[in-house]
Amino acid sequence: MRTLLTESEIADRVRMLGQQITGDYQGQPLLVVGVLHGSVVLVADLIRSIATPHQMAFVRASSYRGSTTVHGELVTTLDGLPDVSGRHVLLIDDIFDTGRTLERLSQEIRARQPASLRAAVLLWKRERQEVASQPDYFAFEIPDEFVVGYGLDYNGDYRHLPYIAVLEADDLATPSSN
Ligand code: IMP
Ligand code: MG
Repeated sequence: MRTLLTESEIADRVRMLGQQITGDYQGQPLLVVGVLHGSVVLVADLIRSIATPHQMAFVRASSYRGSTTVHGELVTTLDGLPDVSGRHVLLIDDIFDTGRTLERLSQEIRARQPASLRAAVLLWKRERQEVASQPDYFAFEIPDEFVVGYGLDYNGDYRHLPYIAVLEADDLATPSSN
């Protein structure tokens, strides 16, 4: 594994993102909606830098099948979402890869008529983008490599790492329990 972003680089950028969001919403109450499970670390850190009053909710999305890093069918679940009509919603995910997850969730949330909807991610693999929309906020643009840590997993592992690391071919081939 190779470290791509250190703990302190992430902390600095996440704090800046929180300040940017605070400035943009100018005190309007927000509903922060995290996408399980990958966003939990970012949500926990980011909300502590958002000074605008806000509440929190989580939705689910999964697009990886089994232990591969290849996208499978995208399944979303909005059971955890309260009434968003007339509210300012900030959707938060770990990474904007092809963009299909955030595009689908945005469509589903927009259908419930929020006052506004924006999306924030930690990482953006810009060269992989397959949809027309782009994240409104991102902390880092990264190359097309498979990364783990700070919420991002490989087959359920590595989410707890405080930094972002690139998984090399060897890491992908061996069991993740080492
Ligand atoms: P998208 O729909 O292609 O944008 O994929 C978004 C989802 O795929 C993210 O929420 C992640 O769960 C997962 N994903 C995409 N790239 C990576 C990666 O490099 N490491 C871990 N998970 C990833
Ligand atoms: Mg995810």
